[in-house]
Amino acid sequence: MGEIKEGSAFGNFNLNGSNGDLYKLLNKLGRLPENFDEKPLLNLLNHQSDKVRFLVVKNLAKLSKFSLIETYINLINNDESSTVRREAASAIGRLRNSNAKQTMFNLLNDNDPEVVLQSIRGLLVFKKDEDVKNKLFSLKEHPNEIIQEVVKKEFKLNNNPISKDEDHTKSPNFMKNAVIQGDVRETLKLVPDESVHLTFTSPPYYNARDYSTYKSYQEYLDFLESVFKEVHRVTKEGRFFLLNTSPIIIPRVGRQYSSKRYPIPYDIHPLLIKMGWEFIDDIVWAKPEASAKNRNAGFLQHRKPLGYKPNACSECVMVYRKKTDKLIDWNIKQYDKKIVEESKIKGDYESSNIWNIDPTFDKTHSAVFPIELCNKVIKFYSFKGDLVFDPFAGSGTFGKSAINLNRFFFLTEQKKQYVDRIKENMSQSKIFSDNNLKPKFLNINEFEKVIKK
Ligand SMILES: C[S@@+](CC[C@H](N)C(=O)[O-])C[C@H]1O[C@@H](n2cnc3c(N)ncnc32)[C@H](O)[C@@H]1O
Repeated sequence: MGEIKEGSAFGNFNLNGSNGDLYKLLNKLGRLPENFDEKPLLNLLNHQSDKVRFLVVKNLAKLSKFSLIETYINLINNDESSTVRREAASAIGRLRNSNAKQTMFNLLNDNDPEVVLQSIRGLLVFKKDEDVKNKLFSLKEHPNEIIQEVVKKEFKLNNNPISKDEDHTKSPNFMKNAVIQGDVRETLKLVPDESVHLTFTSPPYYNARDYSTYKSYQEYLDFLESVFKEVHRVTKEGRFFLLNTSPIIIPRVGRQYSSKRYPIPYDIHPLLIKMGWEFIDDIVWAKPEASAKNRNAGFLQHRKPLGYKPNACSECVMVYRKKTDKLIDWNIKQYDKKIVEESKIKGDYESSNIWNIDPTFDKTHSAVFPIELCNKVIKFYSFKGDLVFDPFAGSGTFGKSAINLNRFFFLTEQKKQYVDRIKENMSQSKIFSDNNLKPKFLNINEFEKVIKK
């Protein structure tokens, strides 16, 4: 298709006809010459297809003609398609004309948050004007959260913690390759703000395994909340926290009772958001069905509705980022080009959020991470030389992975038998013979002394 020099090419299209060629034409219009005749395009605003009307507005906006403002207002007031209305609001913003300010002010009351956002974008061009400043500021309590966020960011009203971190890439030496035995809540009290680049952990599964007991589910959630608040404090600006949990089943106490399901990830999620983590992704760790406990032997026989129980062969790996106004690009830019280059993920990678990984079994610990899972997390969410943390380290799989991928680890684990397992697990590693990297196994008192030194 050659370059369209004038709008007359659109005169031949039937308003109710087939749209294939028209889409192509409208999509490929590119820049429009100054003498472009928009009338045939305007006619297509009556086309029955909202996709056509949307593309027409998009192209009209390229003309930046203030005379089209009435057309846009008309569309916003009357078009039944939200996509078209939003594009018309965007077209008004793209006029970059202070005479359109009042129209954009009016649109700030629109019911569609996207129309409001388009008008905010348009108004930000004039953000130095007192009237614009006042109007935008008045939106700080707008019911829509994205609008609130844009306004708060513009006026620096966000309550995100102000970073005092002097070097984003560095972390305290006393934490590097340290394994601290004791209650993570006590250990974390000693850890400085903004010292960790990445946390990945699998906390106790309420009372489903033998290594922890909580009086109630609420006590368990309170415990996790207190730990993850501290994880938030010690995490560097804009860095990630990945949490591996899954709903659990506490078996029934007798035949006349049912077993109880606890949706752990869904109950922790709102607590994490409240304390300042931003939800980024939900990754599903999928295991072979044969590795899951069989729950449908009964159903296999009776086949009755309501008695269906799927085998639970997935776990959640929820991805959060410490909330900040800074973009991820800012985090990346803190590193030398060389480190960024060396940390790039080579070859195949997980392109979807379903990661198929076989579970691993350990002679000492009943619920260990597969090293493959840790390797992926470290590669996707940290740079070489970073400090990565697991507050519930168990057998220390995450630490082992950190060593293999040239990151430093910081691990906390309550039980001596598991700390011994970490030692055993790492004893084969190259870092044991390197004085600078050799792991330090300390209790909380010893850790405190090392910090004071
Ligand atoms: C699910 S396991 C983690 C297993 C680990 N991901 C691995 O690969 O071996 C949870 C661990 O948290 C530990 N733990 C529970 N409460 C703790 C606390 N208050 N402080 C430190 N560790 C604790 C348990 O002893 C258990 O080893």
